[in-house]
Amino acid sequence: MKVLVIGSGAREHALCRSLSLDPDVTALHCAPGNAGIAEVAELHQVDALDGGAVAALALELGAELVIVGPEAPLVAGVADAVREAGVPVFGPSGEAAQIEGSKAFAKDVMARAGVPTARSYVCTNAQEAAEALDAFGAPYVVKDDGLAAGKGVVVTDDLDAAKAHAAACDRVVIEEFLDGPEVSLFAITDGQTVLPLQPAQDFKRALDGDEGPNTGGMGAYSPLPWADPKLVDEVLQTVLQPTVDEMRRRGTPFSGLLYAGLAITSRGVRVIEFNARFGDPETQVVLARLKTPLAGVLLAAANGTLADLPPLRWHDDAAVTVVVASHNYPGTPRTGDPITGLDAVATEDAPHAYVLHAGTKRAGDDVVSAGGRVLSVTATGADLTQARERAYAAVARIGLDGSQHRTDIAAKAADQEA
Ligand code: AMP
Ligand code: GLY
Repeated sequence: MKVLVIGSGAREHALCRSLSLDPDVTALHCAPGNAGIAEVAELHQVDALDGGAVAALALELGAELVIVGPEAPLVAGVADAVREAGVPVFGPSGEAAQIEGSKAFAKDVMARAGVPTARSYVCTNAQEAAEALDAFGAPYVVKDDGLAAGKGVVVTDDLDAAKAHAAACDRVVIEEFLDGPEVSLFAITDGQTVLPLQPAQDFKRALDGDEGPNTGGMGAYSPLPWADPKLVDEVLQTVLQPTVDEMRRRGTPFSGLLYAGLAITSRGVRVIEFNARFGDPETQVVLARLKTPLAGVLLAAANGTLADLPPLRWHDDAAVTVVVASHNYPGTPRTGDPITGLDAVATEDAPHAYVLHAGTKRAGDDVVSAGGRVLSVTATGADLTQARERAYAAVARIGLDGSQHRTDIAAKAADQEA
């Protein structure tokens, strides 16, 4: 199978790494990719938001499966263009991707499907926002209605800050605060059959101890030793299947990856958000544990034949990923700094630990930083404690001037496991 992956982050590197290990994959292409992906896939330049250009590239390469990684091309209808060109594509239509592209749309789907989520109001002016904030009280949760790369949400006890964020957005969703640990649960679906993956936990805040601003995600681990073993089944029954059924019912069937961001509250599981694509960095740990070759599963989702697949197989190993980010991330990051230690990880720490690239590019003989999140240093181990040790040992070999990473990824969970 010839496969083309669209995107350039560590999620796409994780996808490409798994695909490169899949015996069914005969050729692997990625556009636009990054310096790390270049080691496992042939890179191509393309405007990832231009559906016509992506479809033309897929045809030119003879791709038999296109996988669209990020949300922006999906919302822009890139999967539609590829599908119309007759190439199987893993990723929802632009209309179905509204489940991520518009928080108000997602709330409507959940209401109709009876899916448990935070109570909320959609507000379009300052007075509506003030009333909604007053109705729920602190802590305040204010979400930009549109796509904001994980940075459009403000959770604060400060009423003025909540109002200021609402005023900075055209349309906001203001909702009840959900207490309790968060879980990211991904499901592969062809619009009918829903295949949940293993749950993971992401670390959204920039700093240790969950301090600092929200980011795209600073690390992740899987499995979750503290979670109820029945969690995945429960979420399949109460969240994932009803949502996929409702999307089909309203004429916008969702195929691809449905990502449920969940809060495990004292009153039960609640959906915080849906995403229309693999999560980053959770994909790095989920795919590290997936034993079933990836390409056939994603192709079955693209072709509507998921029901025919045998159950997915998983490694018992735990996986941890630690994000190394640029100076000043999630603000405007500093870029262009050389990255050292990549070869040392490859020779000393592989195969248990490896570096997935996000914002990197080649500059002569150097690999240099080219974005906010630069690397996802990923490791597996017999348990979270070992996976953590291996991941942080590899992080310690990496040199990147001014970089930052959290030191407490999976720390609490590793303690609970012990
Ligand atoms: P989102 O972009 O919707 O995933 O929100 C980003 C982060 O904000 C989430 O991962 C949560 O940590 C936090 N958040 C969002 N909605 C809520 C809520 N209703 N209650 C508490 N925290 C929330
Ligand atoms: N890690 C959060 C996300 O992918 O949206």
